Amino acid sequence: MTVITNIQDLKRIYERRVPRMFYDYAESGSWTEQTFRDNTTDFQDIRLRQRVAVDMSGRSTAAEMIGQKVAMPVALSPVGLTGMQHADGEMKAAKAALDFGVPFTLSTMSINSIEDVAEYTRAPFWFQLYTMKDEDYVRRLIQRAKDAKCSALVITLDLQILGQRHKDLKNGLSAPPKLTPKTIANLATKWRWGIEMLGAKRRNFGNIVGHVQGISDASQLGAWTAEQFDPTLDWGKIAKLMEQWGGKVILKGILDPEDAKMAVKLGADAIVVSNHGGRQLDGALSSIRMLPAILDAVGGDIEVFLDSGIRSGQDILKAMAMGASGTMIGRAFVYGLGAMGQKGVTTALEILRKEMDTTMALCGERSIAGLGRHNLLIPEDFSGRWQD
Ligand code: GLV
Repeated sequence: MTVITNIQDLKRIYERRVPRMFYDYAESGSWTEQTFRDNTTDFQDIRLRQRVAVDMSGRSTAAEMIGQKVAMPVALSPVGLTGMQHADGEMKAAKAALDFGVPFTLSTMSINSIEDVAEYTRAPFWFQLYTMKDEDYVRRLIQRAKDAKCSALVITLDLQILGQRHKDLKNGLSAPPKLTPKTIANLATKWRWGIEMLGAKRRNFGNIVGHVQGISDASQLGAWTAEQFDPTLDWGKIAKLMEQWGGKVILKGILDPEDAKMAVKLGADAIVVSNHGGRQLDGALSSIRMLPAILDAVGGDIEVFLDSGIRSGQDILKAMAMGASGTMIGRAFVYGLGAMGQKGVTTALEILRKEMDTTMALCGERSIAGLGRHNLLIPEDFSGRWQD
């Protein structure tokens, strides 16, 4: 029996238990995967300042994100097909997040529907919106999120078209998986996943199937996005969506100070500095490297969250000390979910909190509010020197 002590342990179990197609889906970046790799390794360039002889008792990782109290400054990112990583994956992850005291974000491209998660958790969660060409469908989707009492709308801005992830094309990624000799051979080794999946509430895209008419194939993410996503989404349309929603709005997928300034102008409550986990524009800089420039441009005017690359509590602490007001995790919770269902998500959150708490103590800090750049050693050229 493996003693689980870190997120990588969960990842190893996850890889064994979940069909290859869905492991590959989560564990891919686009094209060469340079940005995907940089997102994690760039955190290692930032070092921590050890401080001693500070009273470490009474520490707390509690914080606030968009006015909501959180047990630690971490929200679960929207991850497409989460319900293929584990039966009822979105319901389970949402419940783990709720019990732990951190926000959960449901993806438009989820397996469980908005209504499934609302019924199961009986608590508000955040809803992530992809905009489709079918405006009426988008209007209804927003209304469904309102009816479910979602407490924030997370509008993703960096996926009007899908970045190419080679493995998904080669695997013929679909939900539910299409039964080919290759997938059958792989599924035969994942009996636990299969048995649980037989009892799952849904095995296709729950926010879409049954809610849109005349679609050719809703099982394939690639085909669906190419056919349905709105390539014309611009700031004017974002403003209209914000108006339709009328509640808290988080704009996700911002990686440039100029775009961050636009988000402030529009009156968003928060932005998420993110390159979609390295899944969209390969060759873009990592989120953590872009964070300082974005904070210099808009910090203080808007809450700035960081997503992409977080695999440890130390990564969270580094982002917070740099000036972020919160962080978001995708793969780090998916590993736990695929490994052990709801319990695995809880384990992932506990690991992250413990790592962050111990690191805080060794840095001589007792609260999230006390963290700052004084805790970090950031290389002078960390954000790079690029020609104008
Ligand atoms: C969808 O959001 C994806 O990254 O696959």
